Amino acid sequence: MRHFVSVADLTPEEIQKILDFSMTLKKERAEKGENKPILKGKALGMLFQKPSLRTRVSFEMAMVQLGGYAFYLSPSEVKLGQRESVADVARVLSRYVDVIMARVFAHEHILEMARYSRVPIINGLSDFNHPCQAIADFFTIMEKKGALKGLKLAFVGDGNNVATSLILTATKLGTDFSIATPPGYELPKSVVDQAREFAEHSGSDISITDDPHEAVRGADVIYTDVWASMGQEAESEKRRRVFPPYQVNEKLVGEAKSDAIVMHCLPAHRGQEITDGVADGPHSVLFDQAENRMHAQKGIIAWVLEKI
Ligand code: CP
Ligand code: NVA
Repeated sequence: MRHFVSVADLTPEEIQKILDFSMTLKKERAEKGENKPILKGKALGMLFQKPSLRTRVSFEMAMVQLGGYAFYLSPSEVKLGQRESVADVARVLSRYVDVIMARVFAHEHILEMARYSRVPIINGLSDFNHPCQAIADFFTIMEKKGALKGLKLAFVGDGNNVATSLILTATKLGTDFSIATPPGYELPKSVVDQAREFAEHSGSDISITDDPHEAVRGADVIYTDVWASMGQEAESEKRRRVFPPYQVNEKLVGEAKSDAIVMHCLPAHRGQEITDGVADGPHSVLFDQAENRMHAQKGIIAWVLEKI
């Protein structure tokens, strides 16, 4: 069975297939006003332990536009692992639907669901990674830059779930990746080790620093995310004291290539990790990126359901 838990589990060819199919469906919808109902009769259950705007709505619309059906289960309804064990939730839900998307705190819960589910599990974000985001992001880079190999993506900020999926996808696909994080907020070593292995095959260059200026030099893409992720609210104040040198502002963007694009998975804390001037400025692709979540979800769902 094809679960979508981490981009690390997919071959570069499988990732490219998802990106290409998502692009085909985006074009089809733009030209014809609709997609073919390739998921007629299929249902997606969406289970959330954390809030969401983009992931929830883009998955729901992706299913609807492909002729399928999706429903939302809120954190308070299911109480994953509290009202009922994670394994039993997966066992039961997978008797009703064709595919499950879950957003959780502990990554282990995604792995556990994948072990007990009869249908594919899609990871809609865990404390460890955010693979659906990375697929949409590389879709956006491909769309804006026409290529992925040889481009340089610079991530500035926290070495978090989003950064984890970005480095793994970049090094699968041959994109150069630099990251600047404050000391103590680096990517997990195991992730960097895995990325280095992928880079040996793809030829990606990896650079890891605590200097945001060094990271963005020559970058085609600058990426940032919140300083405190969902679940880290108690650390917000402390992080707000540590991270200001890592703000993506006009000055920092001016140090990258003149045609660099700026990305952020959203939600953004404007005035913290990104200024209004950058988020709303000429380099920003933030809202195309958000739209592309929907196109990319179609590719991901089609892949797990073995339609591609
Ligand atoms: N980028 C993203 O996953 O957004 P949501 O948290 O709103 O789903
Ligand atoms: N790193 C952020 C991403 C939100 C889409 C978080 O986990 O809250």
